[in-house]
Amino acid sequence: MTAQANGSGAPPFRGLRALSCRVTIAIALALLAVNLLIKTFDLRRTHDSGKVRSLQRQNCELPKRILVWTTYWTEQSFGWEKIFYRQVSRQCEVSSCELVYDHRLLHTADAVLFHPIDLHPEYELPDRRDPRQLWIFFSVEAPPAMVDDQHVNLTRLGGVFNWTMTYRLDSDVVVPYGRVTPRSSDNSTLTSKDYWSSKNPSKLAAWMVSHCGTPGRREWFVKELVRHMKVDVFGRCGHKKCGKNISIKTLGSFDQDKCNAEIGQYMFYFALENAICQDYVSEKFFLALQLDVIPVVFGGGNYAAIAPPRSYINALDFPSPKALAEYLKVVASNATLYNKYLEWKDHYSVELGHPFSTMVCDLCAKLHDKRSVELPRVNRSNAEAAGVVLSVQGRDPSGSYPDIESWFVKGSACRSWWAGPYDRREHWKP
Ligand SMILES: *[C@@H]1O[C@H](CO)[C@@H](O)[C@H](O)[C@H]1NC(C)=O
Ligand SMILES: *[C@@H]1O[C@H](CO)[C@@H](O)[C@H](O)[C@H]1NC(C)=O
Ligand SMILES: *[C@@H]1O[C@H](CO)[C@@H](O)[C@H](O)[C@H]1NC(C)=O
Ligand SMILES: *[C@@H]1O[C@H](CO)[C@@H](O)[C@H](O)[C@H]1NC(C)=O
Ligand SMILES: *[C@@H]1O[C@H](CO)[C@@H](O)[C@H](O)[C@H]1NC(C)=O
Ligand SMILES: *[C@@H]1O[C@H](CO)[C@@H](O)[C@H](O)[C@H]1NC(C)=O
Repeated sequence: MTAQANGSGAPPFRGLRALSCRVTIAIALALLAVNLLIKTFDLRRTHDSGKVRSLQRQNCELPKRILVWTTYWTEQSFGWEKIFYRQVSRQCEVSSCELVYDHRLLHTADAVLFHPIDLHPEYELPDRRDPRQLWIFFSVEAPPAMVDDQHVNLTRLGGVFNWTMTYRLDSDVVVPYGRVTPRSSDNSTLTSKDYWSSKNPSKLAAWMVSHCGTPGRREWFVKELVRHMKVDVFGRCGHKKCGKNISIKTLGSFDQDKCNAEIGQYMFYFALENAICQDYVSEKFFLALQLDVIPVVFGGGNYAAIAPPRSYINALDFPSPKALAEYLKVVASNATLYNKYLEWKDHYSVELGHPFSTMVCDLCAKLHDKRSVELPRVNRSNAEAAGVVLSVQGRDPSGSYPDIESWFVKGSACRSWWAGPYDRREHWKP
């Protein structure tokens, strides 16, 4: 523990490894010094002293050890390795982190990761904790899938977690399902590609769906919508088939290409979330953005903040499903208007975070950032700037979330389509 005099958060036992690293650097520095003495008048001297400085800068920082405490949807390491693929295969900018699963390594971990749905009452929390160790609440699912279906009661987990790692923009580590970024070198040779002409007029709208009854009641919305326009429904809840099942539980294991080719022929793709919750935008949306179709979204995300202007049509902006149907028919029949919704494609690229590719890199980077570990409070201005209404308490000065149930469940403000804020006991069952 003396080896980590700066108290950067490494638990005691790791001192030995840090010490041996220091000895190695000391020897290297000594050798370089001898080298420099020999070449005092050598012109390459400046080059060598640069080397010395860079060696001095690395203060033997060990990889951050992330102990995964729970299973992931009852899967052992398999599911986690997929989520953290970029990290594990060292493709992140900050790659100095290791994922371990053995509970006996608890006292050596810098962070401990929990998937709350797998934290059944009988699946106990660690029985001790180093105050410098960060316990992290990880969820890429919205509360309805987490809390209600599986009867996970988060109330008992108050004061347990130091960081949240979820899709919510006010999380300590945000893991969105995708990202849209402006192209760096925009050479603005406006191609004005005509997407409209390549469409088949009989293929108006596609919806791919495997959960037929949802807390957000998108199925009610569509039921009303199909009275006014044609929608082809793929998957378990419809009559059309393509590819295999899309499910978070089969991350990346399905053959998407066949479906994409099919969906790409349509004018619109319905990216309807199963729950209407603050910031919850799943991979469906980003997948649709990657194809040459106009996504019709339905959810609680701040779409204007995460996607380019005129890149989607928000179903909830319309007073009724009928009004949406009328507008979609107008867009479908006007080539100029239709193509306007795809113009953004010349200026942005879409990164699909499914299975979470680059998004997980932020955890490792944050663990290495001493300031973020020391900060007692979440900086909420970033979330507020993005339009998130923070009605619930975040992290308190002790460094943990006193009421994670309230943060996650109330803070997500989930609702269903036809009503205002809804009572989950009455409506969450399909
Ligand atoms: C969760 O547990 C707390 C205390 O253990 C209890 O008061 C509360 O009613 C529970 N909530 C639900 C939704 O079961
Ligand atoms: C211009 O765009 C094309 C196609 O996107 C790209 O291949 C090329 O590298 C770009 N040129 C510059 C100078 O950015
Ligand atoms: C898709 O999921 C359903 C229900 O989960 C299952 O019965 C079916 O076998 C799955 N199909 C494929 C191709 O995996
Ligand atoms: C088609 O859309 C464009 C752009 O919104 C509009 O200017 C034009 O008047 C529309 N054409 C028709 C026939 O409605
Ligand atoms: C929080 O973030 C905002 C905007 O990024 C910044 O201006 C402000 O200084 C930050 N506050 C703290 C306490 O770090
Ligand atoms: C993490 O939370 C625990 C429990 O509230 C607290 O004792 C500890 O100081 C926190 N650690 C950090 C680094 O904030």
